[in-house]
Amino acid sequence: MKSPLVHAVDVLGTPAEARHLAGELAARLADSPDVESVDWDKASASWLCTLADGGRGRLALAAPADPAAAPERTYRIVATFEQGTPPVAEAFFAAARQLPFTSTEVAAAVSELPLTSRLADRWPDKPLAGTGLLLTIHHMRDFLVLVDSLLGLGVDPAHMTVIDKEYPYAHTHRVDAHLVQRYGTTVWRYRDLREGIEDHIERVAAAGKRSVVMDDGGYVMPTVLRELPEQAGHFTGLVEQTTSGIRKVEGLDLPLPLFSVAESDMKGMIESYGIADAAVRNTLRLLPDEQFEGQAALVLGFGRIGHEVARVLEMRRMRVAVFDADITRLVAAHEEGFLTGRSLEQLVRTHRPRLVIGCVGSRSFGAREARLLPERSFLVSTTSRNFEFDLEELRADSTAVTDRGMLGTGYQLAGGPELVVLGHGMPINFHYAESLSNRYVDLVLAGLAVGAVALARADERLRPGHNVAATNTILAEAGIIDDYYRLYGPAAGGERG
Ligand SMILES: NC(=O)c1ccc[n+]([C@@H]2O[C@H](COP(=O)([O-])OP(=O)(O)OC[C@H]3O[C@@H](n4cnc5c(N)ncnc54)[C@H](O)[C@@H]3O)[C@@H](O)[C@H]2O)c1
Repeated sequence: MKSPLVHAVDVLGTPAEARHLAGELAARLADSPDVESVDWDKASASWLCTLADGGRGRLALAAPADPAAAPERTYRIVATFEQGTPPVAEAFFAAARQLPFTSTEVAAAVSELPLTSRLADRWPDKPLAGTGLLLTIHHMRDFLVLVDSLLGLGVDPAHMTVIDKEYPYAHTHRVDAHLVQRYGTTVWRYRDLREGIEDHIERVAAAGKRSVVMDDGGYVMPTVLRELPEQAGHFTGLVEQTTSGIRKVEGLDLPLPLFSVAESDMKGMIESYGIADAAVRNTLRLLPDEQFEGQAALVLGFGRIGHEVARVLEMRRMRVAVFDADITRLVAAHEEGFLTGRSLEQLVRTHRPRLVIGCVGSRSFGAREARLLPERSFLVSTTSRNFEFDLEELRADSTAVTDRGMLGTGYQLAGGPELVVLGHGMPINFHYAESLSNRYVDLVLAGLAVGAVALARADERLRPGHNVAATNTILAEAGIIDDYYRLYGPAAGGERG
């Protein structure tokens, strides 16, 4: 007999909140076309779900047996699939995963993002009421606080569309469920990007509105300009939060203003360290039994993130080499004390890193270099999607490729070492994680909303194309950086200088 399949989610809340959430889920399951009936079974204190094709599932609200080992007020919602075919199991779990957050959980996130959550107090005149919003921001709890604030700034939820990038964040499904069930926003998956954009335009244009894009990785405008050019006029502005997005729009003739949080001083000077630290922390969390101190590491790309990654690894007592295709960056890395070289292949051959962290933003490392690594090496990326390593080449050159579950993918290179591409080559700080802490990311999220407000108000300093200087000015004027300093700067009375 096959073992039952289980999906368990820990939720935080009062007993009433936990009961309400589980009850709501049972009711939704009962409405799902893949579930024939849901009945409360008193004897087992759980809902018995009769599924299609004679399948059977169960839903229960449980509490940890050892409350001291879990955060305060933890409940566990457990969905068990006891009998049936794999497609029936898939449909059952797809429905059972849709669990919004409790009020307790939302209140905690709101308190951790004081800048973002109070934006509506800054602009009580609802500056976003006349605009639609199309967003591709990472699906983490912090994003919900941003969405809540954007709604507070006047956006109609029916005119807001979110593209789910489909990264495996710590709470992807719960964030999706919250967006749809609590805020009434439309969510499209990244794989259906173009359809999602078309649907958004149709919905918002029917209400006589145009839209601002809040993008994270240059997904929307390149698609619009290449595949739907006649629709480009629907958009009035673009807020971009990451360098890879800037690169993607660089070759395009942007017909609208770009509010470049990605290139702002705020993002470069404050956030890069956090991303680097989160990337290294999650790498170590995934490899708790490895010994990296004293070992060789290689960082690809000495840009804003790579520079910080190299420093974080050095602080973790690794021997760090750096490669950058740009000679000025290479000299900078050398003068900061890192081992460098003009040839990547030569550097890998002599330094023999067990840990390679890619921070270039595009393809930088393939089978030719991987072949020179020592046994049991790890490739880790901070770059958007899986663009950093040539995974197809690694696959083609391997005698065995193994799925290592949460860890990533293992490659046994023919006549070469065995290595693991951590997180399947996706940005490691988001891999079953939430990257930066909420308090840290607060400033950047608030900055994105500042951009949306400036674009919706047609701030005349923002002209079609890039607006780095104007972005810096508008961000500084908004006062969010002052507030961040007040919150996390030197304590009152303790200021130096
Ligand atoms: N994981 C995250 O949370 C997160 C956040 C923001 C950005 N990113 C990703 O990180 C990437 C890097 O961001 P950044 O701000 O550090 O960019 P950056 O432009 O400051 O740095 C990129 C560096 O790579 C170098 N480079 C370019 N091509 C190279 C090659 N083939 N080999 C070696 N070096 C090369 C460049 O000279 C530059 O120094 C982005 O493109 C984005 O995909 C990830």
